[in-house]
Amino acid sequence: MNTLLVGAQWGDEGKGKIVDVLTEQHDAVVRAQGGNNAGHTVWVGPRKYVLHLVPSGILRPDCLCLIGHGTVIDPLALAGEIKALHRRGINTKGRLFISDRAHLVMPYHRVLDLGREAAAKGKKIGTTGRGIGPTYNDKASRVGLRAGDLLDADHLTASIRARVKEVNVLAKHHGWDTVHSPRIIIDYCAAGRFLAPYITDTALKINTLTARGKKILFEGAQGTLLDIDCGTYPYVTSSNTTAAGLCTGSGLPPNRVDKIIGALKAYTSRVGEGPFPTEAPDLADLLHALGREFGATTGRPRRCGWLDAVLLRYAVAINGIDEFAITNLDGLDTLPVINIATAYRLRGKTLTAPPAAIEDLYACQPVYQTCEGWQSDTTKIRSFNQLPPNARAYLRALEQILGVNIKTISVGPRREQTFHT
Ligand code: GDP
Ligand code: IMO
Ligand code: MG
Repeated sequence: MNTLLVGAQWGDEGKGKIVDVLTEQHDAVVRAQGGNNAGHTVWVGPRKYVLHLVPSGILRPDCLCLIGHGTVIDPLALAGEIKALHRRGINTKGRLFISDRAHLVMPYHRVLDLGREAAAKGKKIGTTGRGIGPTYNDKASRVGLRAGDLLDADHLTASIRARVKEVNVLAKHHGWDTVHSPRIIIDYCAAGRFLAPYITDTALKINTLTARGKKILFEGAQGTLLDIDCGTYPYVTSSNTTAAGLCTGSGLPPNRVDKIIGALKAYTSRVGEGPFPTEAPDLADLLHALGREFGATTGRPRRCGWLDAVLLRYAVAINGIDEFAITNLDGLDTLPVINIATAYRLRGKTLTAPPAAIEDLYACQPVYQTCEGWQSDTTKIRSFNQLPPNARAYLRALEQILGVNIKTISVGPRREQTFHT
């Protein structure tokens, strides 16, 4: 049984929490795209963990965790994340596997990422600054270094020297910081020694686990609307964040996928720049005042707005979502009225799917269906039937609009604040 979990919005849907809940029924969890731009929050009892590259399954002692070839890995950040887990008593030896084919984020990728953002002024993307775009750029240009290169110090040293020379020419041209190979060589050789026992062919391992009938959960990072092809380009990340990306990024053959779950927040949030038709600053103020919706990776306040069924129907279509897991229902607890955008108006026309041109999406006006709020605390509720009638009506309306059932409901950040319908 292979299950894919994808973010249905602009990331931060609560994927980490849902993965943690579902991992109880799985033998392995796989990350297949993105890098440490992701921040997945999981609470285990009183302890909060924010995972960036290590799959959220690591918090269940019997679960295997694989980081597939479609990811981009900052080896220093990954080594730091693993060491931090060790300090908190979590064993990774024999449980964590890193693809030898995953591309490496290098210090110059971060320089390029930050340099381009600074130069873009009014047109910046609002990236996480983790060097993700330039790393995927090098991968596509076939000049990248891969995790397997960490296993041979001489080869790694020569590759770093050659690439740094090329990159510094570009950096000087733009007036950006140059980087120095001796420091990088020392740091990356050390990280290579630390990570070496984890590096292997993860695609083959996934294949073997599947052949043995093991249950694998594929943990999406980012969300559908940040997808490089289907998202709100150019305000996207640089990988395929959709269901298909989890196959190419892990080596899971598409005909071995059994179920696709969409993770969905009960409202919408977005970090960084770009269009957001249902953005509602008042809702953002309310959530921020409650200490909610600050980025798990960068700490930036997230932009917030109403649910957007135009974008969600698009997410259902291109991911093939079989069922939804909805999180943060409790975020709406105090509201008298809740909106769901069911269509857009654009220059006198009604649209039921998002336009491709970013200028058009900026100009779209949402058409709202209004639902009555429930104005009561849902955080202690543990079954669908205990939910206030207006909360049930909101969820049923959503299922109707999206044509997909909501099978999992989350009313708080903790494992126990979850139930199934
Ligand atoms: P991810 O990137 O999709 O894993 O999501 P993040 O961890 O970046 O952001 C989701 C945030 O919502 C985290 O702070 C979670 O602890 C929190 N969270 C998840 N589900 C719920 C929920 O149902 N209610 C509340 N109050 N918080 C939740
Ligand atoms: P998780 O997995 C929310 C956003 C950035 C920026 C754009 C490009 O936690 O849901 P990048 O650094 O990837 O080049 O930035 O994508 N972004 C995310 N937003 N959640 C994430 O991950 C994100 N990863 C990247 O804010 O707008
Ligand atoms: Mg996140």
